Amino acid sequence: MPTDAVLVTGASGEIGHSLIEALAERGVTIIATDIRPLPPHIARYCSEVLKGDILDPLLHEALLHRRFGQVFHLAAILSSQAEREPERAHQVNVEGTLRLLQTSHRMAKLRGEPIVFLFPSSIAVYGLPSLEAKRCAGRVREDEYLRPMTMYGANKLYCELLGLYYARFYRRLDPDDGAGWLDFRALRFPGLLSAFTLPTGGTSDYAPEMLHAAAQGQPYRCFVRPDTTIPFMAMPDAVRALLLLAEAAPSALQQHVYNVTAFSASAEEIAAETHQLFPNSSITFDPDPRRQAIVDTWPEDLDDSAARRDWGWRPEYPRHRTFQEYLAVNIRRRYQKTYSL
Ligand SMILES: NC(=O)c1ccc[n+]([C@@H]2O[C@H](COP(=O)([O-])OP(=O)(O)OC[C@H]3O[C@@H](n4cnc5c(N)ncnc54)[C@H](O)[C@@H]3O)[C@@H](O)[C@H]2O)c1
Repeated sequence: MPTDAVLVTGASGEIGHSLIEALAERGVTIIATDIRPLPPHIARYCSEVLKGDILDPLLHEALLHRRFGQVFHLAAILSSQAEREPERAHQVNVEGTLRLLQTSHRMAKLRGEPIVFLFPSSIAVYGLPSLEAKRCAGRVREDEYLRPMTMYGANKLYCELLGLYYARFYRRLDPDDGAGWLDFRALRFPGLLSAFTLPTGGTSDYAPEMLHAAAQGQPYRCFVRPDTTIPFMAMPDAVRALLLLAEAAPSALQQHVYNVTAFSASAEEIAAETHQLFPNSSITFDPDPRRQAIVDTWPEDLDDSAARRDWGWRPEYPRHRTFQEYLAVNIRRRYQKTYSL
């Protein structure tokens, strides 16, 4: 971890909560920013919290007055929400990332040292052309099926390329760059499952939503078909992957963008796991054509062998452990005041 502060954007979000706790455990100085206020139990871990829009030039001016040596750029509008407001999503996801790349590049030049820039990308960058292709594709590699059908997926794929441009080409084009360059690293996450926070605006949200609804004794209508299969990962693995990639030696990295995954499951299998944990759960399936169409283009499984080879990635939470240890214990604890099992 760098001696200078670590900047976390989108700090009020699902990953932000868990990442900030993990960084604080390592004794890292954290500068957090988000358009929404941070809950006090997360803000207390940060040396500074800057509330602001990632598109606001004043926020970027303020950031340049701080010294940060590493960036986790989490601020984004997620897939389902992005389909409702595509232009806004483009602004936040693309222009916001471009501005932060520029600000981080300026900071790297001021410091005269590289800045590691972590970018959480997504399985949404993939676009399988048909359900049949999805079922036959197997474990999809980083360079396959890059034809996203959503604004969010297109935004993420383009930002991976923007990051690469800043890391490689921009550096070559700027002879005064010295040692101050961006070390851009992207992770393509599958759907994430957190016991502590509820997702908003994602298209893999049906899985965490059914669990959290069941834990509160509420019925849940799942917005995809029972056979819908995508890869998933428990939040502790997602945070560990971010930290492992951030800490990897530059010489070990043979690429800028890595898939990571833990296990694949169908919506029906998630419902069955949920029912095992919460036997009174009531889950029905009522597919929403628009959201179903999105998930039908996402791979059933990801090939994360490059991450395993280059920086030692191994999930610690396979399916059984995710449900029986991480989710069962923590979700029950979270709702025990409102719902007696
Ligand atoms: N959760 C998942 O399943 C998942 C999967 C793949 C990738 N990701 C990526 O990981 C990152 C974090 O995801 P998350 O699950 O924590 O999402 P989230 O929606 O919980 O958090 C995103 C945060 O960004 C903030 N934000 C939105 N617009 C902003 C703006 N204009 N200026 C400043 N902040 C703004 C929001 O307030 C929110 O706190 C995102 O880039 C997301 O695309 C998430």
